[in-house]
Amino acid sequence: MEAIILAGGFGTRLRPLTYTRAKSLLPILNKPMISYLIDYLPKEVDKVILAVNYRKNQIERYFKENDFGKEIIVNDEPEPLGTGGAVKFAEKHITGRFFVLNSDIICSLNLDSMIKFHKKNNSASTISLWPVENVSEFGVADVEDDGNIVGFVEKPKPEDAPSNFINAGAYLLEPEVLDYIEAGRLISMEKEIFPQIIDDTGRFFGFKFEGHWRDIGRISSYIDVHKFLMRKEKMENYVGESPEIHGKLSDCCIGDNVYIGNNSKLNSVIVYDNARIEKDVVLQNCVVGENCKIGMSSDLKNTVLGDNETLNENSVLDNKAVWSQPIPEGYPKKQIGNVIGE
Ligand code: GDD
Ligand code: MG
Repeated sequence: MEAIILAGGFGTRLRPLTYTRAKSLLPILNKPMISYLIDYLPKEVDKVILAVNYRKNQIERYFKENDFGKEIIVNDEPEPLGTGGAVKFAEKHITGRFFVLNSDIICSLNLDSMIKFHKKNNSASTISLWPVENVSEFGVADVEDDGNIVGFVEKPKPEDAPSNFINAGAYLLEPEVLDYIEAGRLISMEKEIFPQIIDDTGRFFGFKFEGHWRDIGRISSYIDVHKFLMRKEKMENYVGESPEIHGKLSDCCIGDNVYIGNNSKLNSVIVYDNARIEKDVVLQNCVVGENCKIGMSSDLKNTVLGDNETLNENSVLDNKAVWSQPIPEGYPKKQIGNVIGE
């Protein structure tokens, strides 16, 4: 059985971290986020199709260097085709019922149970559902008590949301669904294809599950997922290899070969490999990219530094994204894919 992993987004809301990295390779507890997804695939899935475009070489390299015991196909889109276009572009590798998974989600969904639910309902398309309070950043399902979905609206205004159950980013699809997607153009699965399948087949179901669900859409949720996983594992901090830490950490994740000077205080901070934070620095709710240097007595809040940035001593920043290097060619000014037509 195949699983398509949608890993081609630019991750614009995670700038400047995504100026140098594929979103799906951003580390969570020092491991690329995509590795969590591959680890939770059921045994039945023996072929993984990575739908990629932006930073595809990084993704390809990662999978060459790491063996997950499954066949991995890097399916390179000539240009971003959106979530629907990427699925259609993978059609040549599909041999039967298949999964489609967003790559920016950490959750406790049991895909085996989802398969059982899908079969029981003779569904054409089953999507995972998770309840949230604020639905406006997600796709929202109009779902009946038995799980039948009768409407779907992507990123609705709160007053237009048909329920508080959102698309949790995992789909189980019958191959017939591929016939609804036109080849070779930018198509949103959520905006254009789901509503058609609902209207045409009446076999569109939502699978609710329990436990946890976190999406890594923006910097705040990226920090939050670290804190959530550390709490779950009962760890106060997570520290990589060869640390030299003289300061105080709380709720932090620290990469390999990181130096933190005397009397520095870090709270809710993610620090990537080879960063150097001098003494008397205060960091609160920050992400510090690889090879970054932060001068002594700096004070940063709600700030993210892209890879290879340097801040002078006594820097004071609040709510800033630090990036002094050229923006990579072709990187969009605003989010594409799921905001088509906006
Ligand atoms: N290959 C490929 N090509 N992948 C893409 C493209 C593309 O052009 N555009 C986006 N993706 C990937 C992203 O990398 C991500 O894994 C997934 O498709 C979803 O895109 P996002 O850009 O992250 O969408 P979103 O977070 O705004 O909304 C989606 O996820 C929500 C749950 O987190 C939608 O599926 C919503 O309905 C859903 O509720
Ligand atoms: Mg997302």
